Amino acid sequence: MSSNIKSLFDFSKTPVWFMRQAGRYMKEYNSIKENFSSFFDMCRDVDAVKEITMLPIRKFNFDAGIIFSDILIILETLNIEVSFIPSKGPTVKNSNLFETFNYGKEKIDYDKLSPVYQSIKEVKKLIKNYDKPLIGFSGAPWTVAAYLVEGNITKDLAQIKEMSCREPILMNKIINLLTNIITEHLSAQIKSGADIVQIFDTHSNVLDYNAIEKYSIAPIRKICKEIKKRHPEIPISYFSKNINYDYQDFFDHMDIVSFGSAVRMKKYINVLPEKLIFQGNLDPIRLLVGGNEMKEAIISIMKDMREKDFIFNLGHGILPKTPTKNVEQCIDIVKTFKG
Ligand code: CP3
Repeated sequence: MSSNIKSLFDFSKTPVWFMRQAGRYMKEYNSIKENFSSFFDMCRDVDAVKEITMLPIRKFNFDAGIIFSDILIILETLNIEVSFIPSKGPTVKNSNLFETFNYGKEKIDYDKLSPVYQSIKEVKKLIKNYDKPLIGFSGAPWTVAAYLVEGNITKDLAQIKEMSCREPILMNKIINLLTNIITEHLSAQIKSGADIVQIFDTHSNVLDYNAIEKYSIAPIRKICKEIKKRHPEIPISYFSKNINYDYQDFFDHMDIVSFGSAVRMKKYINVLPEKLIFQGNLDPIRLLVGGNEMKEAIISIMKDMREKDFIFNLGHGILPKTPTKNVEQCIDIVKTFKG
């Protein structure tokens, strides 16, 4: 059975949404954030999540909402602490890694994620009035593992790469356990009302070609297969900075492929399976800068994608200093584009 994506978006008017569309570039977001002492406290507050998720839809009329949460929230099921220190990025307390993963007796407390599911139910009641889909999401196992193992992520991910080579058994256990948690997390989001799910594989680009099959491709294939078995009609979207075009069967259970900005999507129209809807990929820097640098890049993407069902997005998350007038102008250019 194929997914119901064509009933969720009107492809005659190129749908638009942005990764991190609810975030620090919006003053409304920053004022809500002031009421919370930690980012995860805010992610657990159903009223705040409801409000934040709806902010960019109300303000910019984006064609989809994405539930406000974070890919690292699943670490709470393992009682692993995550903190967000401004300008330092996420910090994961990983001193018990070996004990947590090495005995096969890990306790997974899925109740910790119930605020996410409650929020999805609540947002659905609101977003229904706008007739727009709600996107649920999760990180891919390797990307979540990168934050977990590194503690404070380093640029080249040297620590997790070293651990993958030195401790392959432990690494496998981590990836397998995360694969199970992510599958359940995505499935529970769908049961709560998510119309689409997106898997963020942000850090797969650091892996060599042997490791990529083992730690990125195979676990994601497994997740998608199981999600499609349980929820055949729900579209699955996959984001990566470098799409792994060599593995065509990788896309068997996927519906949307979301590209980073380094890729010219046009080149892959006849390379990847036809059923895939492309999504992407304006460089967030161009959105921040605005003017002709932004305009020309948007037009180039729109021209390239003229012949294909396509969702306009950024190549990565929107940057905190992005002026909201650029967001408005970008959406306007996409919506008024006539090929
Ligand atoms: O897209 C959306 O609007 C939904 C919410 C969302 C967030 N994070 C909220 C958030 C989504 C989909 C994510 C995904 C996410 N989180 C990814 C994958 C996508 C990507 O960007 O590559 C990753 C790697 C993370 C981990 C993470 N969480 C990082 C690297 C950071 C930024 C740290 C920083 O200070 O810049 C976060 C925190 C985070 N997640 C923020 C938001 C809005 C910023 C928190 C704040 O307001 O200070």
